[in-house]
Amino acid sequence: MDIVKLRTLIEEHNYRYYVLDDPVISDTEYDALFRELEQLEAHHPELITPDSPTQRVGAAPLKKFAKIEHSVPMLSIRNGFTEEELLAFDKRVREKLNVDKVSYSCEPKFDGVSIALIYENGVLIKAATRGDGFVGEDVTQNAKTIKSIPLHLRGNDFPDLLEVRGEVYIPLEDFERFNESSSKRGDKVFVNPRNAASGSLRQLDSRITAARPLQMFCYSIAGDKALQFKTQHEVLEKLKEWGFRVNDEIKVAHGIEECLVYFKELEQKRASLPYEIDGVVYKVDNLREQEELGFVARAPRWAIAHKFSAEEVESEVLAVDFQVGRTGALTPVARLHPVFVGGVTVSNVTLHNMQEIERKDIRIGDFVKVRRAGDVIPEIVSSVKSKRCDNARLIELPSKCPVCGADVMYVEGEAVARCSGGLYCSAQRKESIKHFASKTALNIDGLGDKLVAQLIDSDFIHYVTDLYKLTEEQLLTLERMGKKSADNLLRAIESSKKTTLAKFLYALGIREVGEATAKNLAKYFGNLESIMQVDADALQQVPDIGPVVAEHIELFFKQKHNKELVNELLKQGINWPDVEVEDGSLPLQDQTFVLTGTLESMSRNEAKAKLENLGAKVASSVSKNTTAVIVGRDPGSKAKKAKELGVAILTEAEFAKLLSL
Ligand code: IVH
Repeated sequence: MDIVKLRTLIEEHNYRYYVLDDPVISDTEYDALFRELEQLEAHHPELITPDSPTQRVGAAPLKKFAKIEHSVPMLSIRNGFTEEELLAFDKRVREKLNVDKVSYSCEPKFDGVSIALIYENGVLIKAATRGDGFVGEDVTQNAKTIKSIPLHLRGNDFPDLLEVRGEVYIPLEDFERFNESSSKRGDKVFVNPRNAASGSLRQLDSRITAARPLQMFCYSIAGDKALQFKTQHEVLEKLKEWGFRVNDEIKVAHGIEECLVYFKELEQKRASLPYEIDGVVYKVDNLREQEELGFVARAPRWAIAHKFSAEEVESEVLAVDFQVGRTGALTPVARLHPVFVGGVTVSNVTLHNMQEIERKDIRIGDFVKVRRAGDVIPEIVSSVKSKRCDNARLIELPSKCPVCGADVMYVEGEAVARCSGGLYCSAQRKESIKHFASKTALNIDGLGDKLVAQLIDSDFIHYVTDLYKLTEEQLLTLERMGKKSADNLLRAIESSKKTTLAKFLYALGIREVGEATAKNLAKYFGNLESIMQVDADALQQVPDIGPVVAEHIELFFKQKHNKELVNELLKQGINWPDVEVEDGSLPLQDQTFVLTGTLESMSRNEAKAKLENLGAKVASSVSKNTTAVIVGRDPGSKAKKAKELGVAILTEAEFAKLLSL
């Protein structure tokens, strides 16, 4: 058969199989056609086209993913759990639109990973993950291996540029089969289909992705290209015609009551569906009405996810241990008989504090109901009283710290009990060092939980100041530490010395001083000396600082050992650029900048920190109030938007000049 005809025929069968779910030939017949094409292409390699069905095998591995800025942010949807919440949502929508009844597109909420596909003149040219909603990863090679993603579109009425969004997932049966054969080979087994889908889509080697049973459901067209259609269900019909796979449980409901009926029906069906869903999404069907409703924060006003209530499973409390945190707070943690719930195995659950234990009446030896909703941390819902044995034991707060043996203190009116050991307690020291090194504090790359524990347990470090005295010889004595990792760590420690006043303040771990408070302090006082000297009254002049936090700060800097610690850190060379007094005297005060594209000389976070140190604000989207957009390599739509709005555009060189003001 002619190669073009053969290809078209195979694509037609693909379409029938994946999109219409209505194959007209058997798998064996399909495989025979596919082999015929492979053979023809092997004899005539010059006839291979990049979008031939045989080309879904992956390409050479990448070193890392390129970034793709989304033309329209990939937002999340707000959740509702109860009928009241859903009725309230509908009421808000109706009031805002000033109508009596609204039609909704009711869709399953697929439990996979979202993806954006970009087609130019009908040909798939880019695919991106959601990332942080604004910038995702370029997974084009990987997407091309997914058979239900069309490499080129059917028909000829598609726009020149089209961005389609949807969810990549792994069907349940394929997931089980895949895990089974992985475990036989001794390979990694995934805990649930969603993790498997996410891990598979984000492989640097797309040949691995090609071997994973990924599929995709499409659910939207991004941006104003959708507006040539009247409704969401028309969009979905058109997507199908163009060759995209659209889920066939999607229905239009007239009014919220019909939505609730749909919800109940789908909940019934959930267990027999061949893929995982964790709820239902209701979207205002009329696209003009969607536009009118718009967005709040990072979610549309025109959609809500009605989540299925979380699965509850029973387990047994084997023991309760107390963990000691950075500030000495003792947190009871229940050790459970491991149970599989909400897609993961749970064996440790925090009980938060003694009041919670009392309220839920939980004892050691009790059977308890355990719940995990979506990404939420697992929790114990209640104990099962009918199953309580006589020898179930009450949980008691220890009088001595389980780690250092110091007395445990209970402060009147506070929910938590604390170890009084302070920095004598190795648990508190471990936590304070982890905090100091964390990304948002001094950002010591590679200094993770395990390494901190090793360093403390081997007595190489006691306090954060000791980090800066570590030697390569010491590091090399640690288990699983090679020369390369040791050098990398020492380099990361060295470069952490360059920071900002706000980050340094945050890193100190003063009680109740989070990132925002630290920033406010730095901005208000502009230097560390003042902050260390002022009293609680003066501290309360800072925005958002009340009497309690002011007290903690004053107390912290009154203590001799904290003063010594700060001085020692400064002696070791920790430094930051002069900053930041909030009296309008900063050079970029009241100016707003937007960053787009990749900068050559620094990361986006560094650029942001530098701008903020000069008093500027950094925003994520361009408006007419934007002072200037700083444009790096491969800029996204923000540069275009700036041009449209007549907002100034700065190149990286111009930006560098601005910073040296
Ligand atoms: S529409 C602005 N429809 O849910 C709304 N999302 O919380 C854009 N999801 O990241 C999304 N099923 O990955 C939409 N039928 C569906 C969905 C769906 C699953 C996911 C999607 C998104 C998240 C939003």
